[in-house]
Amino acid sequence: MAKMNNPVRDSFSGRLGIIAAAVGSAVGLGNIWRFPYVTGENGGGAFLLMYLLFVIAIGMPVMLAEFSVGRRAQRNALGSFKKLAPGKPWYLIGVMGIVASFLILAFYSTIAGWTLEYLFQAAGNSFAGKSSAELSASFDQFHTGTFRPLIWQIAFMVLTALIISSGVKRGIEKYTKILMPVLLLLILIVSIRSVTLPGAGEGLRFLFRPDFSAVGWNSVLVALGQAAFSLSIGMGTMITYGSYIRKETNLPVTAFQVSVADTIIAMLSGLMIFPAVFAYSIDPAAGPGLVFVVLPNIFSMMPGGYIFSVIFFMLLSIAALTSTVSILEVVVAYLSEELNMARRTATILGAASIGVLGIFATLSFGMLDDVTPFGRTFFEWFDYISANLLLPLGAILIALFVGWFMGRKVFNDEISSGGMFRVRVTGLFMFVLKFLAPLAIAIVFIYQLIGSS
Ligand code: PFF
Repeated sequence: MAKMNNPVRDSFSGRLGIIAAAVGSAVGLGNIWRFPYVTGENGGGAFLLMYLLFVIAIGMPVMLAEFSVGRRAQRNALGSFKKLAPGKPWYLIGVMGIVASFLILAFYSTIAGWTLEYLFQAAGNSFAGKSSAELSASFDQFHTGTFRPLIWQIAFMVLTALIISSGVKRGIEKYTKILMPVLLLLILIVSIRSVTLPGAGEGLRFLFRPDFSAVGWNSVLVALGQAAFSLSIGMGTMITYGSYIRKETNLPVTAFQVSVADTIIAMLSGLMIFPAVFAYSIDPAAGPGLVFVVLPNIFSMMPGGYIFSVIFFMLLSIAALTSTVSILEVVVAYLSEELNMARRTATILGAASIGVLGIFATLSFGMLDDVTPFGRTFFEWFDYISANLLLPLGAILIALFVGWFMGRKVFNDEISSGGMFRVRVTGLFMFVLKFLAPLAIAIVFIYQLIGSS
């Protein structure tokens, strides 16, 4: 009977596969652009301490909760709740997760498309000899255009779909196992280049000196929000990946390793960006321009800039790709398991419909920049609804589901792999999931609702 419900379910082949895939999901544009930027704005070292605290105290337990739901149920993000809580409305968490996947991928693929354009430009050595103003003008001309950004976005969606359609072991696992170590190596090379530039020390101080005067309530909340987004929690990505983890895999150790790897890559990204920004006297708060305008500028002035620019935009594309793969997998797993679609059909349908939504996100910077229903462009709406509303709400509900509904016995059974591993901190995890995580995230959620309306 179980076999009928669950015909030859694909899975990761082992520990390395799941680690590569989950780290691939967590590490993305959020780490490489957003983390250094918000850290710099919120007191550097002091912010870093809070971020680390939230990753360990809240992010990691919620990731573990997602893994445990997925592996217990052996289903997609929506089907998992239907199976574990039949006839109950908990499956709405899965519905929210799928909506969030559509919206996040629609705008994430816009920026991911930009990274391909910049990889292309870097490879063609087109930053060399250009002034700051010229580089900025060329970014404006590119990202407010129509065809070029759209073509790159579509190209990125096609790449994502190709990896997904090959399945879990021969697609996601095979590629992330190769891409993640390459990414780590590339980040190391560029950060070493960056910290050894003359004048890099100021950037290091900016990033690591704990400036407690810059830390207010707001910074605490920003740190919590960054931790959740960066770890890919709150929309069922880790439920879906959890469903592909074998019983012999130690879930708490996996959640710990993924969280540590994500944090290390975020910190290396800070080391890569800030020393270079300060060495060349550039404004660290340049926003999206930090990557697409300022870095080409830095590369054009840097010894060996050509090769470093190619490496940098390659790693940015890789980081984005292993994240978009995890987002599309949420949708594809749902379509193929709940609606009985073939994996290929599900991939084409999912990627195509998200692609259509993505057109609106991409054109928000150009042709549609004056279409702003209720004061936001399509891009800003997709971002706002998914990251600020659906993710925090999803994370609260997943914590509550595991803490109060699934309960300690089942949770403990799952995270100890049926007693195979001794888990001494189940009580602590339960406390976090029942009380600490929902409360803390609720504060962020309410703050963002009030703060940005
Ligand atoms: N964690 C990714 C990043 O830092 O770029 C973004 C992301 C991926 C968020 C997958 C949510 C998700 F489900």
